[in-house]
Amino acid sequence: MKHILLILAAMTQVLTACGQNPKKEMKTLVAYFSATGTTEAVAKDLAAVTGGTLYEIKPEVTYTAADLDWRNKESRSSVEMQDKSSRPAIVRDLKEADSYDRIFIGFPVWWYTAPTIINTFIEAYGFAGKTVIFFATSGGSTIDKANKDFAAAYPKINWKAGKTLNGFSKTDIKAWADKLK
Ligand SMILES: Cc1cc2nc3c(=O)[nH]c(=O)nc-3n(C[C@H](O)[C@H](O)[C@H](O)COP(=O)(O)O)c2cc1C
Repeated sequence: MKHILLILAAMTQVLTACGQNPKKEMKTLVAYFSATGTTEAVAKDLAAVTGGTLYEIKPEVTYTAADLDWRNKESRSSVEMQDKSSRPAIVRDLKEADSYDRIFIGFPVWWYTAPTIINTFIEAYGFAGKTVIFFATSGGSTIDKANKDFAAAYPKINWKAGKTLNGFSKTDIKAWADKLK
């Protein structure tokens, strides 16, 4: 009888512990590439409203104003964007990349899509099975082509449709991010 009571007591403890099992906190990363600071400002707001870790995707070689001249077919950005296989080198210093459940990736729209440095970043860390959401700033183009291009190129990622966040207030950004939980 004593044994049965002990077993029952142990079982009750186990069941109680199971019931109390707290939901694991979702960990968010806000990674961004920004050549002239516009996307960086949005990324900072997004990290603030989501409680995410802010991380800058840094090119090994910084883009100069001449590199960014889209009118010049020979400029670095033009050459990179004309070659879909270009992978501009990045500084690989993202810690515990695998620990994030939700990863926002921000960039300026270049030639209607994401700069190829975003391919470098994704290929460096993989993010298979993770939820990835793009955000961008632009001179007016949408992010739709980037959403489509990358979902097709990296099918192991759980993509959620991204958005251009030009002119979004912190409140607007929070409302958008809250829908993506
Ligand atoms: C090389 C290059 C290509 C661009 N291509 C586009 C484009 O196709 N559509 C668009 O709306 N804006 C385009 N832009 C404008 C940027 O997307 C916009 O200025 C962005 O907010 C800059 O962000 P950043 O300051 O974070 O670099 C381009 C800018 C550069 C430098």
